Amino acid sequence: MAPAPQHEHAAGLPAFPDPAAADPALAAFLQQASEQLSHWWATAGLRPPLPSLSVLPEVPPRAQGLSADALLENLQLVMDGAYNPCHPGALAHLDPPPLTASVAADLIAAGLNNNLLAEELSPSLTRLERCLTAWLAARLGLGQGAGGVAASGGSLSNLMALVVARHQAGLQGRADALVFCSADAHVSIGKALAVMGLPADALRPLPVDGRGCLEVEALAGALQAAEAAGRPVLAVVATAGTTVRGAVDPIAAMADLCRRHGIWLHVDGAIGAVFALVEAHAHRVPDLGLADSLTVNPQKLLGITKTSSLLLLRRPELLAQCFGTGLPYMEPSWADAHGGECGLQGTRPAEILKLWLGLHQLGLDGVEAVLTGAVQRRRRLQQLLDPLPLELRGGPLHLLAFTPRGLSPAEADRWSGHTRQQLLERQLMLSRPLHAGRHHLKAVLGNPYTGEAQLQAIAACVADSLSPLAAPVHP
Ligand SMILES: Cc1ncc(COP(=O)(O)O)c(C=O)c1O
Repeated sequence: MAPAPQHEHAAGLPAFPDPAAADPALAAFLQQASEQLSHWWATAGLRPPLPSLSVLPEVPPRAQGLSADALLENLQLVMDGAYNPCHPGALAHLDPPPLTASVAADLIAAGLNNNLLAEELSPSLTRLERCLTAWLAARLGLGQGAGGVAASGGSLSNLMALVVARHQAGLQGRADALVFCSADAHVSIGKALAVMGLPADALRPLPVDGRGCLEVEALAGALQAAEAAGRPVLAVVATAGTTVRGAVDPIAAMADLCRRHGIWLHVDGAIGAVFALVEAHAHRVPDLGLADSLTVNPQKLLGITKTSSLLLLRRPELLAQCFGTGLPYMEPSWADAHGGECGLQGTRPAEILKLWLGLHQLGLDGVEAVLTGAVQRRRRLQQLLDPLPLELRGGPLHLLAFTPRGLSPAEADRWSGHTRQQLLERQLMLSRPLHAGRHHLKAVLGNPYTGEAQLQAIAACVADSLSPLAAPVHP
């Protein structure tokens, strides 16, 4: 006879799944939670992208557990105050609506409660991670034998890449090692170097050209100067899709310089690398395959539920060479190394499951359709804003930033704050990055429900915001 269920509370929701029988109360609870979520999605258009302050449920737990109904009511209060990425006017950040199959896979991964730390805790999922990262790495051009590991976010992928680069270069303990990147590289590169114990001036940002791409001449000069000064270079970082405008650095020329100087090239493709998954868009991010390591964030444009990031390497065995500890409390790995030996994280959720299921839901044609839609929306917004007296900062991807021509930094700050507010009142949410010394407004056009109406409304609101600026100033 099965043992009596433990920890069952008054309302019948079992604390743990019964291993011997289906439990109707548990099934009903999951069903109701899922209906609540479906309703939240289905009413997203009725709520603004950014909700006003909402009531939080009681935070400390009571002595007695709550009923299933009370749990769901409290969940609803948190949901009511959540950012609303499904609203067609949600255009501020790199956070699109969730890809539906990845939501289901996230639930299943949570229910399986496997651990990517070691194979005996995640036998099928570990193999899935190895095989899918190898497939993706080859697809993105890193070659047969390439592969990698999932990491919880692009910042962590970038950090692990730089730790591996330093290990490979044998520069551990050298406080004088340098990293070169463009002035528009993501802040996570500087954060990674700080975590690695390097001084702030270890990061050497280099100028970008008028399209926001790193100037190769500047890199060539900087590498030569470092060599002449006897300063070791730990890595060069190229960005495939910068955070504000989606610019793509000249990877081939950078790789060439790196090869000549024997330096590791990391490509931060957190935004742009997914474009190389399909032939129709691969030209937007050329030469990713020349990287030694590559960050890819399917959580951004593809909508795989957070977090979903990968660090891919031409030589994936370098991960375990760098991070391996022998995991003395585990059975040996059946292959090359346990998941927990391939990066900084120990216990890890099976993030690979939602990426795999999401890619299968879309298919490669579906991936292409997502990318095409995003690029078309960026082009259309650019077309609508083009006649206005704005500095438009775009690139080949799905991001577009802009600021009025000729404003001082203080004026651009005021204009962007005011205009963002005007947009929010029309249920259009853009972000307000400080870029090249001046505030801009930025639209990320990855939301598939953003249509002509929203794009027209943005252009109209921005045009209105510019008329007071054009008015003659009376002394
Ligand atoms: C170019 C780039 N790299 C890395 C990151 C960091 O990714 P995450 O927020 O997942 O840590 C971002 C985030 O927006 C980014 O834009």
